[in-house]
Amino acid sequence: MNKSARLTALQASERERFIATHPTSMALARAARAHYLFGVPLHWMRDWPSPATLFVTHAQGARITCADGLAYTDFCLGDTGAMFGHSPPALAQAIATQAAQGLTCMLPSPRALPVGEALQRVFGLPRWQMALSASDANRFVLRWARAVTRRPVLLVFDGCYHGAVDDTLVDRDPTSGKTLPRPSVLGQVHNHADFTRVVPFNDLAALRAALAQGDVACLLAEPALTNFGLVPPQPGFWAAARALCREHGALFVCDETHTVSTALGGYARAHGLAPDVLVVGKAVAGGLPCAVYGFTEELADRMAAAKEHAPDGHSGIGTTLSGNALTMAALEAALQHLHTEANYGHMLKLAELLEQGLRERIARAGQPWTVTRLGARMELQFMDHTPLDAQDVRDHAQGELEALTHLYMLNRGVLLTPFHSMLLVSPATSEADAQRLLAVFGEWVDALARSAAE
Ligand SMILES: Cc1ncc(COP(=O)(O)O)c(C=O)c1O
Repeated sequence: MNKSARLTALQASERERFIATHPTSMALARAARAHYLFGVPLHWMRDWPSPATLFVTHAQGARITCADGLAYTDFCLGDTGAMFGHSPPALAQAIATQAAQGLTCMLPSPRALPVGEALQRVFGLPRWQMALSASDANRFVLRWARAVTRRPVLLVFDGCYHGAVDDTLVDRDPTSGKTLPRPSVLGQVHNHADFTRVVPFNDLAALRAALAQGDVACLLAEPALTNFGLVPPQPGFWAAARALCREHGALFVCDETHTVSTALGGYARAHGLAPDVLVVGKAVAGGLPCAVYGFTEELADRMAAAKEHAPDGHSGIGTTLSGNALTMAALEAALQHLHTEANYGHMLKLAELLEQGLRERIARAGQPWTVTRLGARMELQFMDHTPLDAQDVRDHAQGELEALTHLYMLNRGVLLTPFHSMLLVSPATSEADAQRLLAVFGEWVDALARSAAE
């Protein structure tokens, strides 16, 4: 049997196993089609490689229980939303207390002050605004950047994902370097090539050329690509990239929605990137809908001037529920109890152990695979080197093997993130959880070897 036929056979047996062990999820998935598009409240939930959606009844710490009563050790953690564990007790308490005292007033409470202080303490920037999601925060920051610089162009890296933000949903033509609309995006009507420029990650010459045209409002970037495989920066890349932004008058907006897993306060703080704007969503308030963006005093003055000089009316920035009382209570508790040295100390130590264990098992099995880690988050990459940019990932990724690895592990009680085998370690993850993942991964590489020998 060739490799593709072997993977197809393994996949068929894993699908059968899921169907046999998840009768309740299978039935719920069928019934939910009467109420929801594709049978799920958000259609992405159907993008997992299992034959039907896994319905979750309970999530606590690093553990999830499904509707069939099966328990899973969760390394997906809501794709970062639950990076500090599911329903941490301090957060659950703060939410319950505030829930009885008002949910939203479109006015601040005195809590805004300690929250502002804590944001500065954790992330290092002095001035802040709130949004309900990282997508919203990025959209609003882009508006501010264009308003204060009076420049039209957004600069992003190829393979970027910054949420449901039209301007960022683009690809790069690998031959001409031109901006292309991302073909999967529905209802696309904008001419992105006019307003968004895309360069390969880790390519300083391309970045310099894109900035040199003098029309770039901001570079919006993750410090490492995390949504197209995990692609870390090359040594010295960010020091040079940051200097180029300054030289050409473009703002540097650092989207830390995922890279907040790197260290307390995120990658930019740990590595001295000094962004003009920092965006964090998902886990910032422990998983309640919340995102924040922080900026320098100098930029705050420019933002205030832009708003004051604009005619009265809609700014196009903000939503009614942004900064609501419930979210602010969760954010305060998260900043105090979750964003701590102790939590990151635990997460990083355990992530190192996991990385080491995965590497050992890969080496023992003689597979040409790589593990790339950024603090508490790591990725199992089915290629023989750490990728340099998105094109490198496109050229080497093995989607079928990734999906099958995911399903094999899910069938044995270990959840990885779908799409690109990402694993995240939370403060609630134990060493026994890590050993469990390693044991199942060991079984998986053995199963692959057996199937290759047949
Ligand atoms: C780096 C980054 N920014 C922004 C977002 C958007 O987050 P949300 O879907 O919570 O708006 C994501 C989502 O995956 C992300 O990875």
